[in-house]
Amino acid sequence: MTDQSISTSPIPQHVAIIMDGNGRWAKQRGEQRVKGHQNGVQPIRDVVETAAKVGVKYLTLYAFSTENWTRPKDEVDALMTLLASVIESEVSTLHKNNVRLSVIGDIPSLPSEVQMKLQEACKFTGTNTGLTLTLALSYSARWEILEAIKKYTTDILNKKRDIHDLTENTFKQYLETANMPDPELMIRTSGEQRISNFLLWQLAYTELYFTEVLWPDFGEKDFIDAIIDFQQRERRFGKTSEQL
Ligand code: IPE
Ligand code: IPE
Ligand code: MG
Repeated sequence: MTDQSISTSPIPQHVAIIMDGNGRWAKQRGEQRVKGHQNGVQPIRDVVETAAKVGVKYLTLYAFSTENWTRPKDEVDALMTLLASVIESEVSTLHKNNVRLSVIGDIPSLPSEVQMKLQEACKFTGTNTGLTLTLALSYSARWEILEAIKKYTTDILNKKRDIHDLTENTFKQYLETANMPDPELMIRTSGEQRISNFLLWQLAYTELYFTEVLWPDFGEKDFIDAIIDFQQRERRFGKTSEQL
């Protein structure tokens, strides 16, 4: 199917993706895991381009979790090196395509070179008005929620907030995703059917889509397939079908 065939149906404003399966992709080919990560870059380009083309406004990619720090040092180092070089090489294309880059996660825990490149790229693309591409780096949802609670509590202690004003809407402003709508669609590749500490608050009513495709093999068609699947779902938000 082409993007034409989905243009009349509702397009999710925000799509989140757990890009999984790089290691298995490499292993199937008798290669080192890092080869899988390297081959996971092109699908990112394809998905960013397709998302922008079909009118998705926010694309959030889970690239490195808090838990991923516990992987062998060689793999973590290779991922950080790859990250720094990809950000540097891609920023001009992102900018040309009017994409605004943003990051969520514990950014100060990343190597300083990565932090610097991220900061530059986010600043450089900061006023772009097309797709917002958010990378979740050194991110975990429980970390995010605890951080939000700490910030909220500090504001209460400093009398900037009142405990009685604590609502879903005021709390949301303290999350890393403060200015984004919740994802309507979450895609996970590689056949795993779990959330792995990703956007626990924001995914409360998200449609989940799991595919066996390993991330390095994921492409435009797979992304469109996920959107078409999403468009066939009935989102009831607790109501009955008849009420919609
Ligand atoms: C996803 O692929 C990339 C990261 C988590 C950084 P994996 O590296 O988890 O690949 P598998 O799950 O081992 O195949
Ligand atoms: C989730 O993948 C994190 C990212 C894709 C960045 P993992 O491969 O780390 O997840 P688990 O540990 O298998 O659940
Ligand atoms: Mg994995």
